[in-house]
Amino acid sequence: MANKQFSAIVLAAGRGVRMKSSSPKVLNSIGDKPLIGHVLTQLVGLKNIAQIIVVVGYKSEEVKKYVKGNFKGVEFAYQKSALGTAHAVICAKSKIKHQNVLVLCGDTPLITKETLSSFMSTYSKEKVPAALITARVGSENQLGVILRDTEDRVESICEKVDLKNKTHSDEVNSGIYAFNKKALLATLGKIKKNKKKGEYFLTDLINIYYQQGETIIDFSLKNSEEILGINNRIELTTAEGILRKRIINKHIDAGVRVLDPSNTYIASGVSIGKNSVIYPFTFIEKGVTIGSNCLLGPFLRLRKGTDIKDNTQLGNFVEVNRSHVGPAVTMKHFGYLGDTTVEEGVNIGAGAVVANYDGKKKHKTVIKRKSFIGCDTVLVAPVKVGEGAVTGAGSVVTKNVKPKETVAGVPAKCLKKRKTKK
Ligand code: UD1
Ligand code: MG
Repeated sequence: MANKQFSAIVLAAGRGVRMKSSSPKVLNSIGDKPLIGHVLTQLVGLKNIAQIIVVVGYKSEEVKKYVKGNFKGVEFAYQKSALGTAHAVICAKSKIKHQNVLVLCGDTPLITKETLSSFMSTYSKEKVPAALITARVGSENQLGVILRDTEDRVESICEKVDLKNKTHSDEVNSGIYAFNKKALLATLGKIKKNKKKGEYFLTDLINIYYQQGETIIDFSLKNSEEILGINNRIELTTAEGILRKRIINKHIDAGVRVLDPSNTYIASGVSIGKNSVIYPFTFIEKGVTIGSNCLLGPFLRLRKGTDIKDNTQLGNFVEVNRSHVGPAVTMKHFGYLGDTTVEEGVNIGAGAVVANYDGKKKHKTVIKRKSFIGCDTVLVAPVKVGEGAVTGAGSVVTKNVKPKETVAGVPAKCLKKRKTKK
């Protein structure tokens, strides 16, 4: 039964007042994409998910624009006023096509497809109206608390405001549920308005099933990080840190040495070869590729469109933008490369800079094999430095340098052409 098909409903209509943001909460970003983007990325990778419905409301056009631009085939339901999580599901119910329904919150970005997959297959093995993901967490959160009866069965979910400071267990609700469609549609209408918040709480369904004598599967997660719901900016920062740690741990596990993970920033989708070492305060942007045995940082920024080949050493205080560097290039002290190709074995001295922007356009620079760029050289793009050429300290290179030539001065002029060693 593990291959049952699900309709997924992602709740994303809320404003997110606690976030104090001008954007809808689910469009606030961590890592390389908005919160809802993380949830949808996991969902589209699951073969059991045959339909995805996003419930939009607050600034719906903005949310729709992002989702449509990044995910194919997602449907939308509209919730005119945010009357609660149950009301949001009611707004989507006429669109549900499949017998099983997975409900998730658009503000829970750390959930993984592996967890969702095993949750759905656990639910699918039993004939129950509902299942939910729970975890044990510390007290610093705003998640709903799981209440159990004397036989340890899940009885209800209570929001902290309604618990009125009563002591309670640290077991909480992830906001991720699996429902049997028929049971869901039969009970949604029974939920009463929460008096304090004036909203219809989806969590009330759990107690409704309990009262009906039904079993609810609680799928308990060991890694509670996955269910962190983002309601304010402090939680947003916490999630950002967890995401960063996850990415870095994958690289470490694959053979990269990262000296200080908490001060290293690597975007998702970066590839780094084995035995490369990354010193602190290194920022590596999305799509950058790095070879093996590289020494990077400290204080290095590798920007989009950059690839670094094996045995290259960059940093400290180096920025590389849209450039191809290596193999075996050394640029060990402060400097900038933009729109530049640096071939094998080039040495770039301290303070060397590529002036790639003339105020209107960006231009390209090529530094051919084994050339030597002296300290404080400015390469004014577009410009090409030939194989084995040398630029003197402080030279401003405005014209192409021929292979083996040595240039110096402002603007740089040819001093001599070296003989080829035999
Ligand atoms: C909810 C749960 C809580 C759970 C937590 C998990 C309820 C009553 N509480 O609380 O038990 O631990 O999620 O993160 O369900 N939304 C709508 N329309 C609405 C209200 C909310 O689409 O009318 C969306 C929001 O955009 C958000 C999600 O539903 O993505 C959850 O809403 P939120 O207000 O964050 O609920 P929590 O207080 O976190
Ligand atoms: Mg929330």
